[in-house]
Amino acid sequence: MGALLAFRFALVFLLFSVLSLTATSSSVSAQDLQIVSAERRIDVTSHIVKVFLTLKVENTGASPASEVLLAFPPTQVKHLAVVKAAATVGKRKKKSYVPLDVSPKVLPDAPNGAQFFSISLRNPIKNGETVLLEVLLVLTHVLKPFPAEIGQSESQLVYYHDSAMILSPYFIKEQTTYIKTPSTKVESFTSVEPTNRVGTEINYGRYVDRQPYSVAPIIVHFENNNPFAVVEELVREVEVSHWGSLQVREHYTLVHAGAQHKGVFSRVEYQSRPSFSGVSSFKHLLARLPPRVHSVYYRDEIGNISSSRLRTDSLKSELEIEPRYPLFGGWKATFVIGYGLPLQDFLFESSDGKRYLNFSFGCPLAETLVDKLTIKVVLPEGSKNANAVVPFLVNQHFETMYSYLDVVGRTVVVIEKENVVPEHNSPFQVYYDFNPIFMLAEPLMLTSAFFLFFVACVAYLYIDLSIRKS
Ligand SMILES: *[C@@H]1O[C@H](CO)[C@@H](O)[C@H](O)[C@H]1NC(C)=O
Ligand SMILES: *[C@@H]1O[C@H](CO)[C@@H](O)[C@H](O)[C@H]1NC(C)=O
Repeated sequence: MGALLAFRFALVFLLFSVLSLTATSSSVSAQDLQIVSAERRIDVTSHIVKVFLTLKVENTGASPASEVLLAFPPTQVKHLAVVKAAATVGKRKKKSYVPLDVSPKVLPDAPNGAQFFSISLRNPIKNGETVLLEVLLVLTHVLKPFPAEIGQSESQLVYYHDSAMILSPYFIKEQTTYIKTPSTKVESFTSVEPTNRVGTEINYGRYVDRQPYSVAPIIVHFENNNPFAVVEELVREVEVSHWGSLQVREHYTLVHAGAQHKGVFSRVEYQSRPSFSGVSSFKHLLARLPPRVHSVYYRDEIGNISSSRLRTDSLKSELEIEPRYPLFGGWKATFVIGYGLPLQDFLFESSDGKRYLNFSFGCPLAETLVDKLTIKVVLPEGSKNANAVVPFLVNQHFETMYSYLDVVGRTVVVIEKENVVPEHNSPFQVYYDFNPIFMLAEPLMLTSAFFLFFVACVAYLYIDLSIRKS
């Protein structure tokens, strides 16, 4: 009896393992898809690298395919800030893009430790059908300054590493890669025939009939004097007050992440030869704020910095700020920007009666990378059941904050995300329940306090406290 049971268990176990094996092998079966043509455009003109990939994928297998895999070398994955994909439908003027879901995917035994993202197709493609995909990748901290230290009058040179061939689990019939550099000053680049350079563009390919996982490492060494503006840490506090305003305070720790500055800084040289001295440094930053912003300030630990200009129109506000000194490689600046906004532009009521804040995620500074972003939304006292809806993966938790006259404290929704780039500047929402009776709490407390004070005064005047002999 016992032996029979054990046998049954073994049989069931065997069946399960065979099933799971076929399940994984069918999802991995890269052979069923092939890339008919691929074009990759890599933009290395700023310190945030963008890769635009156009893939024409064909299903050559018998069963319909509902996902397409993107492969990355393990060294690149941790630098990936954004992976977005869309399917192109229609042709020429009627062309439109349908956004697709992309999620990380773990596949065992991938060659060279390759890691994957899976694009889910809305409509599975059948045998012989093709789908045209547009993929956007944003990479951060991938341009390595070389030399790592430069003097004040030197230009900044950087390295970019990649593969001349697109890393893919699929057979690629035809592919080309273009790398766009900021200027024609390219010190060197690896050649993988056919390779050529025209102006600010280096062209790898066309390569035909490459096997899955083909790679050909390349290095491009070129001049890049764009500001390497990196905010190591940004804390944005957004305080909602039902009395009509939204107060925003942003604490920045900004660093120039390019080649380290070598030697002493000469302000005389910097100011007398601006086109030549400190070409890789930066002294202005542009913050894009919502329209109708008011009470703007910009200060650091010393005090207010007056050198900022605010331009506003009906669509946007632009705040140009100038730190106290120009930033050279490795230099840091910490400062705070604060502003007020009209509440009715950002606070709405949803159809189910909840209130919600609709605000922009990301960093207001243009062309800036944020290593660690924390957004704290401080809700009015008495708010309940708060939750944030953000269109990408974030960490979320709650805190309680007390300010003047608070009794139960305010709910603070804390949202954290690493590796934030301008592509993350999309709206997010914080939903919560609020009972308007709470709006009366503070005025009631104030009035009752005044009333008590008044009663005390009256009492003092009328009660005779002097000691008298009876
Ligand atoms: C800084 O500027 C803000 C807004 O302009 C002002 O309210 C504040 O009093 C100033 N602080 C100091 C220390 O000057
Ligand atoms: C949030 O605001 C943006 C514009 O800033 C708008 O496009 C979007 O529909 C709003 N979202 C919600 C849920 O109200």
